[in-house]
Amino acid sequence: TEIGIAAEDLDLGGFPHYMAKEIQEQPESVERMIRGRLDDRFGVARLDGLNLTPRELRGFSRVKILGCGSAYYVGQIGATMIEELARIPADAEAASEFRYRNPIIEADTLYIAVSQSGETIDTAFAVEEIKRKGGRVAGLVNVVGSTIARACDGGVYLHAGPEIAVASTKALTNMAVGFAMIALALGRVRDLSNADGQRIIAAIRALPGQIKAVLDTEPLIAEHAKAAAAANSLFFIGRVRGYPVAREGAQKFKEISYRHAEAYQTSELKHGPLALIDESLPTVAVVPADELADRNLAAVQQIRARGGAVLAITHEDVDFGELDVPRIVVPRTEPELDPILLTIPLQLLAYHAALTLGYDIDKPRNLAKSVTVE
Ligand code: AGP
Repeated sequence: TEIGIAAEDLDLGGFPHYMAKEIQEQPESVERMIRGRLDDRFGVARLDGLNLTPRELRGFSRVKILGCGSAYYVGQIGATMIEELARIPADAEAASEFRYRNPIIEADTLYIAVSQSGETIDTAFAVEEIKRKGGRVAGLVNVVGSTIARACDGGVYLHAGPEIAVASTKALTNMAVGFAMIALALGRVRDLSNADGQRIIAAIRALPGQIKAVLDTEPLIAEHAKAAAAANSLFFIGRVRGYPVAREGAQKFKEISYRHAEAYQTSELKHGPLALIDESLPTVAVVPADELADRNLAAVQQIRARGGAVLAITHEDVDFGELDVPRIVVPRTEPELDPILLTIPLQLLAYHAALTLGYDIDKPRNLAKSVTVE
């Protein structure tokens, strides 16, 4: 069942670490997330657990997403999906900050709390604060019956199954897929056409197979991880859809490989951090085949010209020309869903860097799986 954790679920099942197992589980875990929730005929997601009528969904004029750490970064991915597909202003904020700044709660804002454990105290307090002020909160939570799941007015369970490794992977992927479905639900009561809804649904249905294809590139990623592990400091860069991907990539890297990793918007490089680039500071660049590809390539070129090594997370059809840049290629999906697939190689990069360095991958120092104290 969802609530009971079966003994075999807690078994490593032949994997050396829970993180490795959980990364590999993602194709099935996404299948569980979408099962029974996509309506191909009407191009919409059926999210009954939200407890929102079409009229109520239509009434929101803003979306505010709250989570901590990686859940916050996936919230940023979600905010972009909601703005693109539903054309409602949306943003994400760290729940840990939100709860302390006497936030303005508006009746026509849909608040979404995101959490794997459902027990993160900062996120739980943010939900309480919103509810106290009469706001409406939906939960995007993995653990059924958890504190946050119970506190919300409704929500969408992630069905990722138990996640044991402190570094979250499969739960985050399901959160991103959940946001795509929420964006569909909000979009289809507005101006998102049936055809566009169907286009997104077909792309969501293709994700499990595409994730498998990304996982197949693991040996190549493991090679690059050795070089990444040798650096004392790394940049992770991306823009718009790619920026939260870079943030999450840097987070995962820091968490388990104990190397300094910093995420920047690619567009901000020349406003300061470019000064740090030399042979000793490698960059992981997220370069999808979208309307910003040329600008991203120009930034990569500037880094290379200063001697900085670059590893690109990209699509087959991005033309790097003469640039001497190794690439990890992920399959194309609909551009709005790109962040889901672009994130997967960064999980493997962090995992293999930590493996190379010999650290305790599932239980990194100083961290707990869920942060339930202040
Ligand atoms: C993810 O790898 C981290 N361990 C951490 O940032 C985590 O996402 C955060 O603490 C939120 O946890 P939650 O999803 O259980 O609320």
